[in-house]
Amino acid sequence: MEDRIICECMNVSYEDIKNAVKEGAKTLDDIKEATEAGTICGICEDDIQEVLDELLK
Ligand code: FES
Repeated sequence: MEDRIICECMNVSYEDIKNAVKEGAKTLDDIKEATEAGTICGICEDDIQEVLDELLK
């Protein structure tokens, strides 16, 4: 499901992360910078990393 929300605080979806990766993001910090996902409560960091691993493999 591409439009599922990964980061509730910043309303960042799977697709947003995918787009960030397409634009060159490779690490959790890159994703934070590009989308602001994970910058509030941080509870989604593991999920972001998981999506990232999936997209980068
Ligand atoms: S759910 Fe992502 S920072 Fe809170």
